[in-house]
Formats: sequence, structure tokens, C-alpha cells
Amino acid sequence: MSLMTVSCIKADVGSLSGHITVLPEMIEIMEKHLEKEGKKKGLIIDYHVFHCGDDLETVMTHRKGKDNSKIHKLAWDGFVKVAKYAKKRKLYAAGQDLLSDAFSGNVKGQGPGVAEMTFVERKSDPVLIFACDKTEPAAFNLPLFRVFADPFNTAGLVIDPKMIQGFSFEVLDVYKHLMVKLDCPEEMYELLALLGTTSTYAIKRIYKKGAEPLEERIAAEVCTEKLNVQAGRYVGKDDPVAIVRAQSGFPSVGEVLEGFTLGHLVSGWMRGSHKGPLMPVSLKYATPTRFDGPPRVVGLGFQVCDGELIGPKDLFDDVSFDEVRKRCNRVADYMRRHGPFEPHRVSEKELEYTTLPEVLKKIEPRCKKVNE
Ligand code: F6R
Ligand code: MG
Ligand code: MG
Repeated sequence: MSLMTVSCIKADVGSLSGHITVLPEMIEIMEKHLEKEGKKKGLIIDYHVFHCGDDLETVMTHRKGKDNSKIHKLAWDGFVKVAKYAKKRKLYAAGQDLLSDAFSGNVKGQGPGVAEMTFVERKSDPVLIFACDKTEPAAFNLPLFRVFADPFNTAGLVIDPKMIQGFSFEVLDVYKHLMVKLDCPEEMYELLALLGTTSTYAIKRIYKKGAEPLEERIAAEVCTEKLNVQAGRYVGKDDPVAIVRAQSGFPSVGEVLEGFTLGHLVSGWMRGSHKGPLMPVSLKYATPTRFDGPPRVVGLGFQVCDGELIGPKDLFDDVSFDEVRKRCNRVADYMRRHGPFEPHRVSEKELEYTTLPEVLKKIEPRCKKVNE
């Protein structure tokens, strides 16, 4: 069984005009690095570099499996090079996501976000990459639930005999690092009981139910790193990536994209402290400017051919998403009018890793106990 791994490793290592976008030179530096140190040396088969807002994103294919230290080091070294350039040009927050000075075998816990998927490459394998800016891993909860568990979104759950058995979801408590597997449709209500609490639970992976090896059933992998929790302080939001396999027994590309048509409210946006709509955009518009947002998601569609990444197709670059984007702008307007009030501002628990507690500390000594 020949296994293929797709590794998406991303980091914010500096940006242009505050936290809005990256310079084309930063993409070039990473591309050259992956070409010379990865592809030419036979470490990776192929790669693609892009950005979503201020996050530099890599997609790499290889046969070394998940959590491979050579692959992680390859990405880490690339981010170090880009950060060096960003520092030299005095770009904003240069080096932000590289939390430690030296690489220690795996980028997890060191700042960058990771989503990796190992699978048996099918006769034809459409692989989709989604990357968000100004939001957190649980932003994928609602769309991925709809895609893999809601027949009102995904017709294949009812019509396709290869899908009707449903999917299993692995859900992570991002603070306690507890994982639970729940099967759909049987345990849909329990699944929703967790997924709705986006401040605590995030989908980690989804796979088809069945007796085949996991590498044949794997459908989605999400990056669940909580950068702020890792750092113990606010260093930007944990802008996630996700890998989704589509078609032939998995939801079709169109069914996957349909999951992003609500413009649902997610946490993040300005200072990682505000709820706003997740706007699906083309790569061209992955530049969150209004109030540092609203949060964005881009989608890249590849065909994987013996590890070669054919594509990408810029998935949200289509007029059929215009109405969603309009709704997002209307919702953004409405939410913004709440200013510093909840529910535009995130809950107290979510504010723990922002800079607000420092502000509150100052008034703490003046608070007196009363019998009110
Ligand atoms: C959100 C984000 C921005 C910054 C904001 C303040 O993830 O990165 O909204 O939080 O622009 O940035 P500083 O504190 O660097 O001035
Ligand atoms: Mg930034
Ligand atoms: Mg970002």
C-alpha cells in the first residue's frame, strides 16, 4: 500500500501594512527554499506556497508520513528564512509565530499551525485545502459538520450508497487536549453538543465509517494548534488550515464548498477578540482590511497525481459566492455597531488569551466586596 502524505504547515512571520497581507517576495523565498532543500533533495514530491491574509501557507506532498521531523524542519527553516527577510524590511510583527529560537523535532507547540493527512492515493484524488485568517480552528466546526453530517447540505449522504453509512468525527478539547470520537448520524446530537461550544471544542479529523484502513477512509484533517494557549499570551489568532478529500464516496467538491455558504459567525477578527462572519473569498481578496477583517477563508482545489499537486483552482473565485459575501458584509456592519459589547466581543473565557486581562488587572485593586 503506497501512502501519500499532504502536509500543510503555516505561520505568520511578518506582514505588510499591519496584519493584512504578505509580500510576494516572502512567497518566493519559501518557494525557492522548498524547491532547493525539499524537492531537489527528494524529501518532498511537490509543494505549493500561498497566503491567506498575514499567514504564509505551505502545502507539501511526500511519503514520509505525518509528524516527520525532516518535513517539519524543512518548513521551519523556510519560515526562519522568510522571518529574517521580514525583519530586515521591518515588516510588521516579523517572526511572530516562531515561538522558540531553535527547532525541536516537530513544529507543533513551536508556533506554526499544522494539518497533515496520510492516505492511499486514489485513481483520481481531488484534495482541497482551506486556509483562514483572523479566526480559530473551531471556525471549521460548522462548515465541516454541514459537509459531512447534514443531508440538507450534502445530497450524497442520502443519495450515494458509498456515503449513506455516515462519517466519524474526532473532536478535540483544545484546552485539556482530550479527544473523543463520535459517529454520525447515530451520535449527531452529542456531536453538536460539543461542536456548538466553539470556544472549547474543535473538529480534529473526519473519516468514513468502515473496515478499510484509516488511510483509505480519511476525509478531513484540521489544524487545531492554539497559538495563544501555547504562548500563554496574545500573539495573534490561531488562523487554521484544513485538508479535505472530495468525490467518489466523499462529499463532492461542490458539496464541500456549500458548507461555507452561511457566512457563519466565528471568533477572531480585530485583536482576536471579536465575532464576525467568515467570508469565503478568492485568493485575490484574502486581505482582511476592515477592522482587520472580517475573517476570511480561501479554498484551493488540487488533483494529486503520484504526489504532484496539479492546480490549484481558486475555489471561491466564483460569482455563486457573491451573495454570501454580500451577506457577510451586511452582518459585519451589524456586528460592528455593537462596538465593545458582547456578542460582538468574544466571551470572557476567550478573552483570557488577549490583552484585555492586563487592562482589567489595573482596576482589580479598586474592586470592593458588597452585599448587593
Ligand atoms: C488579529 C490581529 C490584529 C491585531 C491588531 C493589533 O489576529 O492580528 O487584529 O491584533 O491589529 O495589533 P498590534 O497589537 O500588533 O498593534
Ligand atoms: Mg499578523
Ligand atoms: Mg493571521
